[in-house]
Amino acid sequence: MRTKVAIIGSGPSGLLLGQLLTNAGIDNVILDRVNKDYILGRVRAGVLEEGMVGMLDRAGAGARMHKEGLPHDGFSLAFDGRDHRLDLFGLTGKRVMVYGQTELTHDLMDKREATGGVTIYDAGNVAPHEFDVASPYVTYEKDGVTHRIDCDFIAGCDGFHGVSRKSVPESALQTFERVYPFGWLGILADVPPVSHELIYANHPRGFALCSMRSETRSRYYIQCALDEKIEDWSDERFFDELRRRLPVEHAERMVTGPSFEKSIAPLRSFVAEPMRFGKLFLVGDAAHIVPPTGAKGLNLAASDVHYLFDGLQEYYSEKSAAGIDAYSSRALKRVWRAVRFSWSMTTLMHRFPDTGEFGQKIQEAELDYLVSSKAASTALAENYVGLPY
Ligand code: APR
Ligand code: PHB
Repeated sequence: MRTKVAIIGSGPSGLLLGQLLTNAGIDNVILDRVNKDYILGRVRAGVLEEGMVGMLDRAGAGARMHKEGLPHDGFSLAFDGRDHRLDLFGLTGKRVMVYGQTELTHDLMDKREATGGVTIYDAGNVAPHEFDVASPYVTYEKDGVTHRIDCDFIAGCDGFHGVSRKSVPESALQTFERVYPFGWLGILADVPPVSHELIYANHPRGFALCSMRSETRSRYYIQCALDEKIEDWSDERFFDELRRRLPVEHAERMVTGPSFEKSIAPLRSFVAEPMRFGKLFLVGDAAHIVPPTGAKGLNLAASDVHYLFDGLQEYYSEKSAAGIDAYSSRALKRVWRAVRFSWSMTTLMHRFPDTGEFGQKIQEAELDYLVSSKAASTALAENYVGLPY
């Protein structure tokens, strides 16, 4: 088989890139090591920047998001027993869209099938080859046979644990990482959210986040130790702890109910530089990871795809390599700004081993300044709604 762009990974990065290429008449194939149901079974974040909303519309896969998504003009910061709304739209003229990544991925898969895109699921031992020379190709195993796809370019959209970044010589890669000394214990429950907007809570017992997937489905998180075990957290214990970390007004009116998903996620910041090696491009989680505090992971995948697609379209339409040559530096500039913001929000909102009483007072003083200064609120708001592409 031969294609123009071989995409490794059928998550948001791969699907978004694949759809933009298909819409532009640029042949592409997506390979994934698992199947569609497995991908759709993953529980992920759910806050979209206007840039991601625009990319979904550009891909022609935004209809259900506009119909079922929840536009949010603000969110609350809760600390010291108080609750402060940050007016995102008033401060920036922009809003965010609450719409689950699972739904977005489903919409992109449906669009790909409707437009005849080729996706090879259950592709074993996918491997990129010869991407440092003119004739790259990808191999994979399926039904006991090893297949080869010759291509012009390879897009490594295969996430943090994928094969693409690991296929680059270590000497050609520089990585930057910070692992946080805690995780997030999250649940999904079909109960009405405690508030119509998100609540990010700083508390001496630890961080908490009240989010949602719809007006009848809540997504809640509490900071927990990395050695916590899911089996030690009944729903009752989870909700008791969550309520202890929220202002009384929210704790008292919280509707609880049985969770149907419960998981613990570790938090890390990670960036691999550069994001391009000859004919191989790293996209999304394959190149960078952010703690979910700033809701940037999915949104950074969108801006990476924006830069890469523009470069590939320019290459095929104008025979210019300027765009693909600029991909890594353009993407990394926005990546590092989002990594900084996510690190900053995580540092401000969580209880670290060395925070102590003094550190808690400093965090509360910073939050108090932040919500009382238009300049400081605007700075946070413009990062949260998404910096320009
Ligand atoms: N071969 C083929 N496919 C692979 C391989 C491999 N060796 N390794 C991983 N994959 C596939 C995974 O099965 C997954 O479907 O690549 C896909 C990567 O998808 P994501 O991890 O979702 O990464 P990305 O598309 O960049 O989306 C980033 O997803 O994980 C969240 O928080 C993250 O919201 C962010 C978004
Ligand atoms: C979520 O709804 O899963 C979510 C929302 C905002 C975040 C992180 C996760 O910052």
